[in-house]
Amino acid sequence: GRVLLAYSGGLDTSCILAWLIEQGYEVIAFMADVGQEEDFEAARKKALAVGAKKFYLEDLKREFVTELIYPALQANCIYENVYLLGTSLARPIIARGMMSVAEKEGCDYVSHGCTGKGNDQVRFELAFYGLKPDIKVIAPWRIPEFYHRFAGRQALLAYAAEKNIPVQQTAAKPWSTDENLFHISYEAGILEDPNTTPPADMWKLTVDPELAPQTPQRISIEFAQGLPVKVEVPDEGKTYTDGVEIFLALNALARKHGIGRIDIVENRFIGVKSRGCYESPGATILRAAHVDLEGLTLDRNVRALRDQFVTIELSRILYNGHWFTPEREFVASAIPASQRTVNGVVRLKLYKGNVVVEGRVSDEGLYDEKESSMDELGGFEPTDTTGFIAIESIRIKKWAQANIRKGRV
Ligand code: ARG
Ligand code: SIN
Repeated sequence: GRVLLAYSGGLDTSCILAWLIEQGYEVIAFMADVGQEEDFEAARKKALAVGAKKFYLEDLKREFVTELIYPALQANCIYENVYLLGTSLARPIIARGMMSVAEKEGCDYVSHGCTGKGNDQVRFELAFYGLKPDIKVIAPWRIPEFYHRFAGRQALLAYAAEKNIPVQQTAAKPWSTDENLFHISYEAGILEDPNTTPPADMWKLTVDPELAPQTPQRISIEFAQGLPVKVEVPDEGKTYTDGVEIFLALNALARKHGIGRIDIVENRFIGVKSRGCYESPGATILRAAHVDLEGLTLDRNVRALRDQFVTIELSRILYNGHWFTPEREFVASAIPASQRTVNGVVRLKLYKGNVVVEGRVSDEGLYDEKESSMDELGGFEPTDTTGFIAIESIRIKKWAQANIRKGRV
């Protein structure tokens, strides 16, 4: 049979490639460019040297931004209050790229190097089945012959030597990463002790906020229907309007000012807890600006419904790998209606790890300075509020009276 392997160029997937060939499969290696820093040419050479029949490199950056990052931004997606879902967001795009190559190359099988305890195996495989239900998955880290044979790093290294797989001699970082243009994740290795402070040189996408410039930098972001359409950086004389370029420009600004680092313990889908560190530089700036503009432009009840339904459900859908499902279609369909009025400009100050909103403007007209003013009535009748409070307090007074009568005070 023919297998399409999600290849990373690293030790694990190179050994999996050799092992699949040993099992009698013909293997095509697949890599997605989702904006990670990577020597794709070296990976191509390595895959072909190990025995891949073909090597595919698909540039999926634009669809990653417009089809996954945009809706997540519009819906303010976030997992367990802190994680902006950078790895989760890339998985559906990579899986779709794989299924289209699998179709083109007539591959009955796909394979990947995800471990048996993680989220990524679930995300990839549910996405594969949601796109190509007849695909067959080979997950070596869940196949006993494989994981018993290769238990521990030494067995993999010995196998690599046997198969002439070059292993980088650069001092391996004692953790594992996943990178794309939205974020980088750090997990495993020395990070598994949740009380071990990450070493300063682990962080790759941002400078240490303590070492960031002493002078703040000011930028503005314009949104149309909840999406960034223009970023202005006056002190650099720069304006960005293209979706991918906006992201890259905000990443560079956030990097310089040390914005977007987190260190958390999260609950994986399968139920185990996991310690992870993340840098989501540009995404952190965009989220702060978007949330702020909604304050000015979004109806109160739409916002409340969106927060308790769309934000929560879409975040869960992303984290758990349920992108290609009917519930995602259903939940995502509410996003455009929620974002129709989210138009305007937010002015920001970037300073030592912080994104500070300094002002916002919109012509949506939901905010009325006269109406909101403490200094003038602006058509408002204060006596109306007396009745409003009287009615609102009926059941609260009843509850308080009952508490007093029953001694529950
Ligand atoms: N814990 C994060 C998540 O589930 C990051 C996973 C990183 N994946 C990886 N293959 N290194 O989204
Ligand atoms: C992995 O298991 O391959 C990485 C971690 C995860 O998927 O959560």
